[in-house]
Amino acid sequence: MTLDELLDQSGDDRLDREEAARIMEALRGELTRHARLYYVEDRQEIDDSVYDALFRRLQRLEEAFPDLVTPDSPTLRVGADPLEAFETVRHVVPMLSLDSTQEPEDVRRFDERVRRVLGDDVVYILEPKLDGASIELVYEQGVLVRAVTRGNGMEGEDVTANARTIPTLPLRLDESRRPAPALLAARGEVLMYLSAFEALNQRMVEQGAEPYVNPRNSASGSLRQLDPRLTAERPLDVLVYDVLAVDGATFETDHEALEALGDWGFRRPKRIELARTVDEILAYHEAFARDRDDLDYEIDGVVIKVDERAARDVLGATSHHPRWALAFKFEPRKEVTRIERIALSVGRTGRVTPVALMRPVMVGGVTVSRASLHNREEVARKDIREGDLVRIQRAGDVIPQVVERVDEPGRERGPEFRMPDTCPACGAPLHQDGPATFCPNRFECPAQLKGGIVHYASRPGLDIEGLGQETAELLVERGLVRELSDLYDLTPEQLVELPGFAEKSATALVDAIQRSRHTELARFLYGLGIPEVGQTVARELAAHFRDVRAVLEATPEELEAVDGVGPVMSARIRAFLDDSRNREHIEHVLAKGLVLEPPEEREGGPLEGKRFVFTGSLSIPRGRAKAMVEAAGGRVVSSVSGETDYVVAGEDPGSKLAKAEKLGVPVLDETAFLALLDGGAGE
Ligand code: IVH
Repeated sequence: MTLDELLDQSGDDRLDREEAARIMEALRGELTRHARLYYVEDRQEIDDSVYDALFRRLQRLEEAFPDLVTPDSPTLRVGADPLEAFETVRHVVPMLSLDSTQEPEDVRRFDERVRRVLGDDVVYILEPKLDGASIELVYEQGVLVRAVTRGNGMEGEDVTANARTIPTLPLRLDESRRPAPALLAARGEVLMYLSAFEALNQRMVEQGAEPYVNPRNSASGSLRQLDPRLTAERPLDVLVYDVLAVDGATFETDHEALEALGDWGFRRPKRIELARTVDEILAYHEAFARDRDDLDYEIDGVVIKVDERAARDVLGATSHHPRWALAFKFEPRKEVTRIERIALSVGRTGRVTPVALMRPVMVGGVTVSRASLHNREEVARKDIREGDLVRIQRAGDVIPQVVERVDEPGRERGPEFRMPDTCPACGAPLHQDGPATFCPNRFECPAQLKGGIVHYASRPGLDIEGLGQETAELLVERGLVRELSDLYDLTPEQLVELPGFAEKSATALVDAIQRSRHTELARFLYGLGIPEVGQTVARELAAHFRDVRAVLEATPEELEAVDGVGPVMSARIRAFLDDSRNREHIEHVLAKGLVLEPPEEREGGPLEGKRFVFTGSLSIPRGRAKAMVEAAGGRVVSSVSGETDYVVAGEDPGSKLAKAEKLGVPVLDETAFLALLDGGAGE
């Protein structure tokens, strides 16, 4: 079909199924080709607006013919519906990890062992060791059917819906250069580029969320979002470097396999080389160690592999590591600098953390000037004082650690660090809790209030744009906000007086605050900063109680009926809500006219609102069973309570079965479960 035909949607409301299927296939092919040109080959044949028009037409046709949506549809890249949990699945072949060393001596020994078995004619393939999140990608008949995290090496989490959102990952193998095999399991690394990582962290800090520690955590955290739409917003890439299994193609060597991966449209690590001697390996390692700061992604060493694939079987593996490969790691990046001051930072929960403020120094391409010293015991153990020279390290982590003090004989040192007796922010006497120090002045301490405001306004919270650390600080210092509810009384006239604000930004912030009164219940519950209530628990509470009053009044037992809430958590939540000052503050906020929406429920299914718990093994995979329940409007939760409607017991059921019997919850075997889904034998 021509581009014009693909863009012409005048007859779309009269299409029959067959014709729709034909057009949808053509649209998928065209969209896939242009996405590959753009993301992988870095060129563009059509305008963005044309791409968008094709995309929207496919989306509309998929809405009209939902059963014609295929797993390689580019529309899946924007992110599917959120999941309750990831399904655990087995890898096609185990994903081993690599034995690793930093010593050239070990590389020589590795080479000797390899030569003893294979003889002297050995070729190695050398690759950068990417510091990201390892992933298995399974393609059947050329279509991506599964993406699985490494997990424990035998089984991992099914993150297919999330992986599909990574623009450079082929949903279908490119067959223009080489036919797709019947089965391909490839291994790669999901990465976040350093530039993207720093931008993301900056955004998170501005929004008051906790930044990621390093690009690896950020990549793996992004990949493991239950809501694929969140993953879709994260700038991820995936580089593929290994064929784990293939059916319908053969490769003599690893470099041929890599060539095929390239032909099929995968992005691969750069600077892959072949080598025949240890000296060549050492030179490659040295060159990469020198250049690694020029890359826009983290590598923590190089990987040495025997190039010949048949040698993999000959050399075999220990229970953890293949004997045909070795990771040759770089030294962590270290620098020496001086501590100018040890400052104290008071967080939202009152925790007081000593922070080393250092003379700025470049460590692996990133300027470092502060490092947490964690707590007073840590400072004492490392014997660190103001004015000391220290060695700091950044082992892939952007947030550096103070490794040790560097001795300077003859130099007079400053006094030992002492945690003050009173809070640096409010003057209240500090409390010790093990090695940690807390300011107990929850309601008057300006530092805690600032932290609380930033958390409330953060992206996963009420998502108030423009209300970050700096603004929160000003609002508290000027006495404009004494508790959260005061936010809603702010006027543009007040804000315009603050440094950094103009009329437009002042109005915008007030508007954003007012708009936030209409929000999701889960965001509000998260934003309150209740102990134990992170994003997940907040979502569960909102889905379970559906109303803020119901949460505020819930008994400990009722709280424990919520998925993921145990007795310790419920007690801490209850203690917070029972505190009269907390309660007063919450009421003040609610009195500002908040409209809190419970999460949408799938309506109209035969099992609408029913709660299921699975125990034991079924003949269908858990994930399928769960999807079937959800498609019928039900929900799957992990623990049995009085509110459970059905327990589905497979083979070897666990303690949940006993609990169900005790509570009188109906128990179904697999047959009865399937019958119920069919709308047959019910209660
Ligand atoms: S080969 C059986 N090559 O490093 C070994 N691994 O423990 C197959 N990694 O998480 C892995 N870059 O995912 C190989 N070029 C590369 C790699 C690489 C990064 C990861 C791997 C694993 C860790 C090694």
